[in-house]
Amino acid sequence: MTANAAELQRFAEDLSRRAGAYLMEHLGKLNVHQISEKQRNDFVTHVDRGSEALIVEEIRRSYPEHSILAEEGATHQNSGSLTWIVDPLDGTLNYIKEIPFFGVSIAVEDEKGLLVGVVYNPALDELFSARRGGGATLNRRSLQVSAQTDLRRAFLATGFPHHSKYHLPDYLHAFSEIFIQAAGVRRLGSAALDLCYTASGCFEAYWELGLQSWDIAAGSLIVREAGGAVSDFRGGDTHLQSGRIAAGNKEIHSQIINILAHYFKEPDHV
Ligand code: IPD
Ligand code: CA
Ligand code: CA
Repeated sequence: MTANAAELQRFAEDLSRRAGAYLMEHLGKLNVHQISEKQRNDFVTHVDRGSEALIVEEIRRSYPEHSILAEEGATHQNSGSLTWIVDPLDGTLNYIKEIPFFGVSIAVEDEKGLLVGVVYNPALDELFSARRGGGATLNRRSLQVSAQTDLRRAFLATGFPHHSKYHLPDYLHAFSEIFIQAAGVRRLGSAALDLCYTASGCFEAYWELGLQSWDIAAGSLIVREAGGAVSDFRGGDTHLQSGRIAAGNKEIHSQIINILAHYFKEPDHV
């Protein structure tokens, strides 16, 4: 089946809502034996796997020629030029603790880059969606990044480097400098939603390292389509590979990048 971008976007939106409904059905029903640690501080539950199975099954049924890269391992390599990048539950720790800030993240990439990005937060019924060149929306209303250009008035989000503790000193130095200058900094626990809240203007900017492409693929496109900038810590385009991301409105993004690049001097690993 060949599909155009608008069809793929609609399909991803429906699928993220279905997976979100599955997450809500199982919310609050986990027992300790259903939670395991893939590596230190990296938790997974049968709900992550169930959500991924649902998503991957639907993609394979409708688009058998496409490739899939999914966090919990249901990855399929095909010869076609389109790849689905799936995080079936972003914010697993929030989900386990019943903090209503988690979501489903689904992106489609083609040979030119990200084509479609959808993130659904089922607890708040927030559907963030973007298509390359087609703008970004939240529940069908157009999204625009914040117009605030003064870092002293900026409200920011970050994530702590759980998976990159070796970089903790550099992270903390950069954090101190940004924290002292900004109006406030939050750590909410879902990279995909941090990006969407940056796209909607709640945050002027967001930065984190040690991420994977499924955490940030959909959200990156949503920020760019909302008029924002997305890059690695040195202003380059390696964020999906290096897992180091800075996003925001163009002015605050560039101020954040200046600070991050000062502390993260070595090239971003890809
Ligand atoms: C995590 C979240 C979190 C970020 C972690 C990610 P997961 O994804 O996006 O905000 O700080 O590094 O691994 O494990 O909940 O899908
Ligand atoms: Ca994730
Ligand atoms: Ca996940």
